[in-house]
Amino acid sequence: MDSFINSIDFFKGNDPEQIVANYGTPLYVYSEEVIRSRMKAVAGVITKYDYTANYSIKANTNIEILKVALSEGINCDAMSVGELMILKKAGFPSDRIFFVPNNVCDEELEYAIDNDIVTSLDSLSQLEKYGQLASKKCKGYECAVRINPGVGAGHSDKVVTAGKKTKFGVAEADIDKIHEVLDRYGLKLVGINQHIGSQFLDPQPYLDAVRNLLRIARGFKGLKFIDFGGGYGIPYHKLDGEADYPMGDFKKRLEPILDEFVKDYGYAPLFKSEPGRFCVAEGGVILARVHAVKENYGHAYAGTDVGMHVLIRPAMYDSYHDVEIIRDGKVVPRENLSEITVTGPICESGDIIAKDRLLPQIKEGDLACVLDAGAYGYSMASTYNTRPRPAEVMICMDGSVKLIRRRETFEDLMRLF
Ligand SMILES: Cc1ncc(COP(=O)(O)O)c(C=O)c1O
Repeated sequence: MDSFINSIDFFKGNDPEQIVANYGTPLYVYSEEVIRSRMKAVAGVITKYDYTANYSIKANTNIEILKVALSEGINCDAMSVGELMILKKAGFPSDRIFFVPNNVCDEELEYAIDNDIVTSLDSLSQLEKYGQLASKKCKGYECAVRINPGVGAGHSDKVVTAGKKTKFGVAEADIDKIHEVLDRYGLKLVGINQHIGSQFLDPQPYLDAVRNLLRIARGFKGLKFIDFGGGYGIPYHKLDGEADYPMGDFKKRLEPILDEFVKDYGYAPLFKSEPGRFCVAEGGVILARVHAVKENYGHAYAGTDVGMHVLIRPAMYDSYHDVEIIRDGKVVPRENLSEITVTGPICESGDIIAKDRLLPQIKEGDLACVLDAGAYGYSMASTYNTRPRPAEVMICMDGSVKLIRRRETFEDLMRLF
């Protein structure tokens, strides 16, 4: 593919130069159309049984994106009280929110209990704490437990969230102890959940994990739901022809596994998944201005205003993001390519967005468009080097451009002192 932006008319006819003239750079730009289409795809993964896709909002918590999820009818997962609060502000009722925290204090658990939000406990000690709080408050007795099935998967060790060497979940060997704590506090276990990791394009590890969780579920009576977690990948190497996650094939292979379980269990509980990245990653790009082009000891660098403070994924996970160059509002064709590293303004040698890439000749004043930045982009952005965080705009279904988060100002940064 020569250009992802052109192939789907990402900006819906808007001139990216005009967008940044109005809102500045660096700028997160989202496509409502792409996000809706991905949310529709995850909502249709299981059709034979009761199923909800819970968008894992850690990927992107912009309130306008949450409102898109709300209107698409999908539910949400939250990891913190801040995420619970923003979901409430977006209009989500408590019964469309699942709280999946780890290592939290009494106040966070109390917030969920007070707001009637079903909570999954991630360790025996958190379950114990939850039991004490629930019995004091005489509510919140229904809860879930996150199981660590002992195996995980993912694109980097840092996103493998199950397995013998991760902090997450309760080990299968401790299931008897789960029952002891539940009995001690009169808690009712209504669901079990897992999340094995992130960004896989081959469905097999996830299908194995589903089968394994369903095996474990057979040991729990009366479950109302079973949640298989998120992790569906997206093609970050799309300009090199990487294929999409095979959702159709995945769906076909998942169904017989569920059929077998339902036959043994006697009924079908609600099945859930927790996709984050898949819903929003491809629906977001970052527009960066190229401020300096230089050569250092034979290596070419394009210095932009998008650094690790705007997008930490390359520095944190060695993640790959495709980059397209825009000049005078048009994508520069991928011709006369030469090797160049796209960097940011942060005072760190790891402040790299795209390393040693074959890109068309880059000039000062060009825009670099970083693709697939809708997930774990702004939500992981920081003010490192005392740089205000960027603005976010949405290209709406009708093609209009809407500011959905204003740029942070220096006054915002000074306000805390
Ligand atoms: C518990 C849990 N659920 C869901 C997700 C979403 O994962 P992904 O964005 O890979 O779909 C995560 C992300 O790490 C997670 O920790």
